[in-house]
Amino acid sequence: MQIKTTQRLELPPSADMHVHLRQGDMMKVVAPTVTQGGVDTAFVMPNLVPPITTVERVLEYQTQLRDLAPDVNFLMSLFLHPSVTPEVIAQASAAGVAGVKMYPQGVTTNSESGVSDLEAFYDTFSAMEKHDLVLNLHGEVLESLAPEGTTLEEAFLPTLKKLHDRFPKLRIVLEHCTTAAAVEAVRACGPTVGATITAHHLYLTSTEACCDPFAFCKPIPKKPTDRHALLKTVVSGDPKFFFGSDSAPHLKQSKTSAEKGKAPAGVFTQPVATQLVLLALEEGIERGDIAEADVTQEKLEGFLSRNGRRFYKLPEESKTKLVLERKGEKISDSVRNESGDVEVGISRAGSEVFSLRFEKV
Ligand code: DOR
Ligand code: ZN
Repeated sequence: MQIKTTQRLELPPSADMHVHLRQGDMMKVVAPTVTQGGVDTAFVMPNLVPPITTVERVLEYQTQLRDLAPDVNFLMSLFLHPSVTPEVIAQASAAGVAGVKMYPQGVTTNSESGVSDLEAFYDTFSAMEKHDLVLNLHGEVLESLAPEGTTLEEAFLPTLKKLHDRFPKLRIVLEHCTTAAAVEAVRACGPTVGATITAHHLYLTSTEACCDPFAFCKPIPKKPTDRHALLKTVVSGDPKFFFGSDSAPHLKQSKTSAEKGKAPAGVFTQPVATQLVLLALEEGIERGDIAEADVTQEKLEGFLSRNGRRFYKLPEESKTKLVLERKGEKISDSVRNESGDVEVGISRAGSEVFSLRFEKV
């Protein structure tokens, strides 16, 4: 396949293993966009207000999402908190909850009740290992804890290794890898450790993220060499790495009205999640980061769909497929509700992307 000249592509539906779908009116706008982005399976983050820490609440949330997007398989997660005890893990497992997300306290959006001492959760991790729940890590330390010259992500990597050494059978996902060092750290772990890579970290660097509020997110996009490493990882075929968009909607107004450097963190990519991964690969080829021959049907299917499903032990066969065609479609500026009180700006508005539809197989 020559992705740059290909007019038409067929792919299995994407599995997006890291999404933020929010609650209330924002959820009503965002949840239906999952399908538009070519995704039929989405792992949903629990950093709502208040965070989701009970099985009852997570099941209620899943029902709300299913009502809004009936064709999507929503995999649910709890927010790691002292109230998520080994008993709650047993209950969560019985209810089909897929994972537990660890946010270091204060590191990002709605993480105020996150974790300050991981060792306090070792009994919970043992229970997760026993019940086969996935531990999803926001792999960053607080700015005050990172040594001079080390990124917040790199400073977290010894913690990943420590957890994996202590709980070798616990499936762990290092979410939204942004550095070459993170990729290496994940590779150095056993097969129970995987990682998600977003679309936006495949096209952004710190140059855009520092100054454009719509490109600002956590972890912050890094150097061109890190982006290069991520692109190479996506086309490496390594099954440890899979797609997780970390699409994170914030009101457009909160992005545009923020003081410089104070915008809420999050890049919204959901309506064009699959399309943006393809665009990022094309741009990677143009820059010479990867070669045209690196982007094969098999590698695309692996990264966007199969690797994530396999890690989460889901069936890989699907009754639908994606048909992607070049029709000159451009990414719209935003998604919004009728009243206009919820409007979210889409990343890379105006860029030309594949038109996408689902078809029965
Ligand atoms: O940029 C981000 N936005 N990173 C996160 O970790 C959280 C997310 C959000 O919820 O807005
Ligand atoms: Zn996230």
